[in-house]
Amino acid sequence: MAYIIKKKINGGEYYYMRESVREGEKVKSKNVAYLGKNKEEAKRKFENMVNKKTKIEDKDIIKYEQNELSNEVKNSSAISVEEMAAFCKRKGFVYPSGEIYGGLSGFWDFGVLGAEMKKNLKNEWWKYHVYQRDDIVGIDGAIITNPKVWEASGHVASFVDVAVLNKKTKEKFKVDKHEVKKYENNPNYEIKGEFNPMFTTQVGPVVEDSVKSYLRPETAQLIFADFKLVFDNARLKLPCGIAQQGKAFRNEIAPRDFLFRCREFEQMEIEYFVNPEDECPYKIPDVEIMIYSSEMQKTEEGAKKMKLKEALETHVIKNKWHAYWIANEYLWFISLGANKDKFRIRQHVSEEKAHYSQDTWDLEYEFPFGWKELLGFADRGNFDLSQHEKFSGKDLHVLDEKTGKKIIPQVVCEPSLGFERAFLVFMFDAYFYDEKRQNVTLRLNPKLAPVKAAIFPIIKKDEYENICHEILVDLRKEWNVIYDKSGSIGRRYARNDEAGTPYCITIDEDSVKQVDVTIRERDTAKQIRVKIKDLKNVLRQLINGEKEFENSGKLV
Ligand code: GAP
Repeated sequence: MAYIIKKKINGGEYYYMRESVREGEKVKSKNVAYLGKNKEEAKRKFENMVNKKTKIEDKDIIKYEQNELSNEVKNSSAISVEEMAAFCKRKGFVYPSGEIYGGLSGFWDFGVLGAEMKKNLKNEWWKYHVYQRDDIVGIDGAIITNPKVWEASGHVASFVDVAVLNKKTKEKFKVDKHEVKKYENNPNYEIKGEFNPMFTTQVGPVVEDSVKSYLRPETAQLIFADFKLVFDNARLKLPCGIAQQGKAFRNEIAPRDFLFRCREFEQMEIEYFVNPEDECPYKIPDVEIMIYSSEMQKTEEGAKKMKLKEALETHVIKNKWHAYWIANEYLWFISLGANKDKFRIRQHVSEEKAHYSQDTWDLEYEFPFGWKELLGFADRGNFDLSQHEKFSGKDLHVLDEKTGKKIIPQVVCEPSLGFERAFLVFMFDAYFYDEKRQNVTLRLNPKLAPVKAAIFPIIKKDEYENICHEILVDLRKEWNVIYDKSGSIGRRYARNDEAGTPYCITIDEDSVKQVDVTIRERDTAKQIRVKIKDLKNVLRQLINGEKEFENSGKLV
C-alpha cells in the first residue's frame, strides 16, 4: 500500500511517498519517492504516480514528527536536496563557503572527499571527451579576459535575467525575459527589473587607469576567441571540437537547491565545429530516452519514450548531429552509474532560446525538486565566430580540406554541462540506506569514488601494520588510498561505506602466512582473497570495471 507522509525537518515540511509491504508476519515500510516541499504539488505527484482516480485529501497525509525523523530518513534512498546537503557536510564532501561566518549565498567549498571526487569526475569527463577522441582537443582559458570578448559575444547587451518578487512569500526568483508576461498583470507578483548576471571587476589597482572587466559567465567564449590559434596549432580538420573545463560566475538572483544554482560554479563545455554542408558521419548509438519536444510542450501531449534514431527519422529531432551528441552525453552519465530512468531530453520552445541559439535541447534529470536542466545542447550556428571576426577585425576563416574552401565553421552543437549538477546526479543516484547494515552505502562508481581503497590491520599489531604500510606506499603511487586502524572492523567498514570507498583491504594472521589479503566489496559486502603480489593489478581491473569482483580472487 502506498501513502503520503509529511516530515518536519528543521522547521521545514517535506513530503514523501511511502510504501508498506507484508513480508510473512511483518509489514515493512520504506520511503520510495521524495514528493517535494509543497503539499498540493506532493498530492498531484502522488496521484500521478499511483494513477488514482480518487483525490488525496489533506487528512490522508500522515505526519511524522521530528523525533521519529532520524529513522525515517535512514529508511530511504529517496532523499531531499536539504538532506543531501546535510549528508555532504557531515561526510566532508561540500560545505557552505566560509561557514564559520555564516556562508555566502551561492558559494560552496569542497571538503576532503568532495575535492577528490571533483578531480575524478572532471578527469572522467576529460578522458571521454578529449583523450578518447581524435577530433577534440582541450584548452584552459583565463577567467578574466579582454572585455571586448563579452561585447562581441552579446553578453554585455543581451545576457539578462528578470527578478520577480512573490509578494506573499517575499521570495525573489529569476525568470527569462519571455516569461515576464505571466507575472506582469498578477497582483501577487512584482517585477523588480532586469539584471545582467555578470560579475564585474576592475583590472589594474589604480582606479583611474583600470579597465572594467567581467568574470566569465561561461567557459565557451575563449574557445571562440582562441579558435583560429587552436585550429592551426592542433592541426584540426573539420568536423572537430574544442573542450574546456573551469570556473564560471553568475550573480544569480536566487541561488537555490544546494549546488544546483550557484554563483560560482564550473562548466565542462565543448564547441563542436562543422561545415554545415557536411552530414554527421557517426552512427547514432542505440539509445532510448524520454523525449519532450517543443511541439509536445505546446500541445501538452506529454513526453514520449523513443529511440533517438526513430526521433531523427520522424523529424522530432531535426539534426543528426544533435541526436549523436545527446546519445553521447547520456551514455557518459550511464557509464558512470547514473540511473537511466531519471533522464529525459527537452527542446527549448522558441521564446526560451538564448540570444545565440538556433535550436537547443536540454538533457534533464529528475532531481528531488523536479525535472531540471542538467546539460544544454545549443546550436550556436556561426554567431560567435562571426561576431568575434567583426569586433576584432581578424580573419577567423579556416580551410575546409574537403572542399578546399575557406569558411567560418558552424557550431552545430555545444554540449555544455555544469560540474555541480553532474556531482548532484551521481550523489543522488549513489545514496542508499542499507537497512541490514544500518548505515548509508554511497554506491559511487569506483572511478568517481574519492577513496579507492581503505587498508586495515585486523588488530593493531606491528606485524600486520608493517604489511599495511608496504601495501599503502605501493597503491598510493596510483590512487588515493587510506589507512584506517581505529575502531572495530565493522565501524571501519561503515565509515568507508558512507564515504563511497569501493574496496576495503584487510591484513590478518593468514596474510602473514600466505602473503595475501582480503578485499571486501562495498555494495555486496562479499570478500575475496588475493595474493599481495597481484593486488595492484586486481584493484586496477576492478576500478576500471574490467573484471567481475567474484572472478578476481578466491571467494571467502
Ligand atoms: N555556454 C552555454 C551555457 O553557458 P547555460 O545553459 O547557461 O549555457 C550550461 O549553462 C550549463 O551550466 C547548464 O546546463 C548547467 O549545468 C550549468 N549552469 C548554468 N548556470 C549554473 C548555475 N548558476 N549554477 C550551477 N550550474 C549552472
